[in-house]
Amino acid sequence: MTVITPPGRRIASNHAKQVFAELDRRTNAIFQDVMAWRGWRLITDPQTPRHRILALAREILHAVDMYQCHTTEAGFHMLGRLPKNEVKLIQRLCGHKALEAEHGIWAREDRGRLGSAEPVRHASPATFAVAAVWWRMAEIEEPMGYLGAEYLFEQLTALVTKAALPIIDGRALPAEGLRFVIEHATEDAKHASFIRHLILDVVTRYPDSADAMFRCFDYFHAVYPLPVWEEAYERAARDAEAPAALPQRRAG
Ligand SMILES: [Fe+2]
Ligand SMILES: [Fe+2]
Repeated sequence: MTVITPPGRRIASNHAKQVFAELDRRTNAIFQDVMAWRGWRLITDPQTPRHRILALAREILHAVDMYQCHTTEAGFHMLGRLPKNEVKLIQRLCGHKALEAEHGIWAREDRGRLGSAEPVRHASPATFAVAAVWWRMAEIEEPMGYLGAEYLFEQLTALVTKAALPIIDGRALPAEGLRFVIEHATEDAKHASFIRHLILDVVTRYPDSADAMFRCFDYFHAVYPLPVWEEAYERAARDAEAPAALPQRRAG
């Protein structure tokens, strides 16, 4: 990989600005897909009972619990493969990843507060695929590609959680079971801005790294978010049907 500019404070190249704009455009397009998804329509429909909204939130948190420790470990592995002279970049990205490390625990605690204490034993197929993609990227991809996948993670979470706040408020949903959502609405806006800054810096100094960022963005998007959230939707729908089925069996 060619280094054209030494590390330090610098103005982003036009190429780096274009790369970031394209990553951001792709993320916004995915956000629009989420807004059109049947799960989002369920959440935003005023006719949807609160327990159905909370069941879907609970199952999305369940999914986070299934993949998050693996994406974190894979992320650290990928960062460990960055060029060894990139001390500041490694420090900053590892610092951010360390802050993220406990977020799977937040998801598990929220899930418990929303009524499910069942521990995670095995990953679902889609969350297994998320972990597999992250580990494959971590092992074989150019490590600066990390920034592309991480931008999708952070910025999409920022957009979706921000859009969820008025629903939490409007439907008087229990904040104590939705800490993950509420905290991420502000935290991930900051994290996305942090990753944006690093994308501009890294692509300015390593123009060739843009290809790996786009590849990693697309690899991750192949398995996230809708494949994972569709599974969550199906699990929540099955749970919603279960109480209705029980009285019928008793009556019979
Ligand atoms: Fe997080
Ligand atoms: Fe974050």
